[in-house]
Amino acid sequence: MHFHSHKENMTQVIAVANQKGGVGKTTVAVNLARALQLMGQRVLIVDSDPQGSARDWYQASQNQGYDMPVVVGVDRPVLETSIQKLRGAFDTILIDGAAKLQDMTISAIKAADFVLIPVQPSALDIWAAEDLVELIKARQSITNGKPLAAFLVSRQIVGTRLANDANSALEALNLPILAARTTQRVAYAECMSTGSTVLDLESNGLATSEIKAILQELQTLISTLLEG
Ligand SMILES: Nc1ncnc2c1ncn2[C@@H]1O[C@H](COP(=O)(O)OP(=O)(O)O)[C@@H](O)[C@H]1O
Ligand SMILES: [Mg+2]
Repeated sequence: MHFHSHKENMTQVIAVANQKGGVGKTTVAVNLARALQLMGQRVLIVDSDPQGSARDWYQASQNQGYDMPVVVGVDRPVLETSIQKLRGAFDTILIDGAAKLQDMTISAIKAADFVLIPVQPSALDIWAAEDLVELIKARQSITNGKPLAAFLVSRQIVGTRLANDANSALEALNLPILAARTTQRVAYAECMSTGSTVLDLESNGLATSEIKAILQELQTLISTLLEG
């Protein structure tokens, strides 16, 4: 796989956002960060959620002696300016989104080149992201379409198809939907509590394949943005 399509010295900033808790933001953020790090990228995770799950994960990883991407926490909505200053020092900066649709989320949207929105595959959960989508579209309309955004179906039950109402809810919000998704798997839950990632727990496992597929699709979308 070839992920270095973005120009050298160019930092990509990816926010994983959805004000709903439990949709898999932190899980997806740390696993994508680790996948990028294993490919040789310099990766920073910015934990913008007061709950600090990504910070907890990083601390657990330190206790285990892992060398995971560094997590720094922010407690003020100043992401746009601070991340602007970090551009160049990292290849990828992943923002782990907050559980509220307030200043911190707006700040993350302004800082990001791309907003990835994990949603659990139910119509109710998808409609709950409508306000976030509106914020992103408002931002896009004043900044030449930046940030790009897409939905990521998260925690799908293995072997099920997306319910029709979920599909039509996703389509109604009129953002791209990644074909790659995460399904409900023990490995994801396990890695969060052990400061690890699915790539470390089972490098040839199905969860690892999901993360790699998501990353590949994401990078294709982002490179069209950064080069376009
Ligand atoms: N694909 C998945 N399969 C199984 N468990 C998952 C999956 N994604 C997340 N989880 C678990 O669900 C809970 C919430 O996930 P988390 O990433 O913390 O969500 P958020 O950051 O959106 O609140 C955590 O306990 C996590 O381990
Ligand atoms: Mg979280």
